[in-house]
Amino acid sequence: MSDSSPTTVHVPILRDAIVDALVEPLLARKEPAWIVDCTFGGGGHTSAFLEKLPKHHGVIGVDRDEGALIRGKTRLAADFAGGRLKLLHARFGDLDPETLAPHLDGRPVLGILADLGFSSDQLEDPERGISFLREGPLDMRLDRSEGESAYEYLRSASEKNLADMIYELGEEHHSRRIARFIVEARAKGELPATTTALASLVERAVPGAARGGRIHAATRTFQALRIHVNQELRELDQLLDRVILGLAVTGRAAIISFHSLEDRRVKQKFRSDPAFEEFTRKPIEADEAELAANPRARSAKLRIATRISG
Ligand SMILES: C[S@@+](CC[C@H](N)C(=O)[O-])C[C@H]1O[C@@H](n2cnc3c(N)ncnc32)[C@H](O)[C@@H]1O
Repeated sequence: MSDSSPTTVHVPILRDAIVDALVEPLLARKEPAWIVDCTFGGGGHTSAFLEKLPKHHGVIGVDRDEGALIRGKTRLAADFAGGRLKLLHARFGDLDPETLAPHLDGRPVLGILADLGFSSDQLEDPERGISFLREGPLDMRLDRSEGESAYEYLRSASEKNLADMIYELGEEHHSRRIARFIVEARAKGELPATTTALASLVERAVPGAARGGRIHAATRTFQALRIHVNQELRELDQLLDRVILGLAVTGRAAIISFHSLEDRRVKQKFRSDPAFEEFTRKPIEADEAELAANPRARSAKLRIATRISG
């Protein structure tokens, strides 16, 4: 998706459940307040908030991918011009009550959403190198203006660090063999520089029986690399430790995660912090109709909590 095209192919996941839960505390409130959408992406959840919220409330959309915000600004031009939508290029892990304060015009935050990971726009863009189904440079950064690409990381990581990273972040049982294959290719000057080349190297590395399963042999390795390159778990930890402290009492935080490493953290926080009360004990998942329309919703788990004390 080019930054100059205002369209999006991303379909918001669990939109109605999220909008109903986050908008409700603001419906009867006369004083203006904000919902902070920490992962603006295609702006799908943000536009639904703007539609359902009484006009005096607004949304602050945050994304580390500036292109997503530029496209959103064009699509939601009227709300942006009218001040009901603010857009902030930042990593949500850098937000806390202090860094958010200058953007709030003195109003409280009564909703926080984080729909983790990457958007379909980013997945479909071969230049980002997120999908092994599309040939592209091995980059994987959600914000290409900072940090090292996946290729740069593979160029310098030790075999042990690679294996540990693929095991921990991808929960990949063949991590040692995959790391060995990568390091051997590197020693021969044949380190894969593209997504498809890395995917076929991983396929060669995993034992025959593990190939041809329900998921592609490279899925877990790509997940691990993407999480590592974007420091996604650190971002989530900071969201849970700091960002949601910006939520006023009675406000709600909603987090959609896509793998167990993330969901475990969210569950632990919402269950153990006495300042929060779980909205539902079990995570909310997509129903059959949504799964049929949007296969990306398959692994999504939504947890919502209400801030009950300061
Ligand atoms: C799943 S998409 C969000 C889609 C959005 N809810 C919608 O319905 O259109 C995730 C978005 O979050 C952004 N993102 C991921 N990690 C981030 C972080 N730590 N800080 C800010 N934005 C982040 C990605 O760049 C991506 O645009």
